[in-house]
Amino acid sequence: MSNEPPTDESQSQPFFKSPKDWSRIKIRVLDKYLQPFCYKLGSTYHDVFLVDGFAGAGRYETGQDGSPLVGAKWALRMRDEGRPFHLRCINVEADELIHRQLARNLKPYADSGLVKTYKGRFEDHLRGILAEVGDSPTLFFIDPFGVEHIDQDSLAPLRLRTAKTELLLRLDTPYILRMLGQDKALRSDSESVRRAAQTILDKVSSIFGADKSAWSEELQDRWQRQAATAGGTQKAKHAAILGMYEESLKRAFAYVI
Ligand SMILES: C[S@@+](CC[C@H](N)C(=O)[O-])C[C@H]1O[C@@H](n2cnc3c(N)ncnc32)[C@H](O)[C@@H]1O
Repeated sequence: MSNEPPTDESQSQPFFKSPKDWSRIKIRVLDKYLQPFCYKLGSTYHDVFLVDGFAGAGRYETGQDGSPLVGAKWALRMRDEGRPFHLRCINVEADELIHRQLARNLKPYADSGLVKTYKGRFEDHLRGILAEVGDSPTLFFIDPFGVEHIDQDSLAPLRLRTAKTELLLRLDTPYILRMLGQDKALRSDSESVRRAAQTILDKVSSIFGADKSAWSEELQDRWQRQAATAGGTQKAKHAAILGMYEESLKRAFAYVI
């Protein structure tokens, strides 16, 4: 799934005005996935966790539920159904203003003790969250803006977990496609422009979990070949990015769908 990201944190507010199509799909996938995930694992475990690492405001201005409300509603529904397990939701939001909106939107659910909200960066809370969820099955919903936190190093703590761990992650392929468009900049007369382009490509390399931290011709060839094989269209380029990201996840995680 993909989006057109705001360029910085201060522009993040309009994101919650109205969900785009990809956003609706993402929410629907989470909504549909949570029930079987919980029912299956809840037959063995007392607690099942949803960690929404990049939670957002909880609700769009159109009234549509954001991912934290989807989780909170399932948590209460399962409790009210008298299930023998609890779905527990942990939400993390870095932006102070958005966190305040999130806390407000989740207030009706907070008294249940099943829904928590942390202010701050996911990467800073992660160690504490891992301790909190312990050996309980946990679904991590990773939905940042842009491409931060989806590289293989950032995902390593989740990969290294021995307890049941699932990851639902949104990959912003248009963003990565733009990052890949550095051909002209790499040939620039200006060293600083060349260096900036290389830094961007190195970042893409880390997303793909390449062995070398630096963007290589081999990587460049591979994605161009994959895109060409698939027809060379824009859609094929997106598919090639997705394919390479899936390959890198498959090297790290047991199942990737
Ligand atoms: C794409 S939005 C999340 C939308 C939400 N998952 C939904 O579907 O309703 C990404 C959110 O992550 C927050 N964010 C950005 N960097 C973060 C970080 N390092 N840790 C936690 N939250 C972060 C942003 O402020 C933004 O609200």
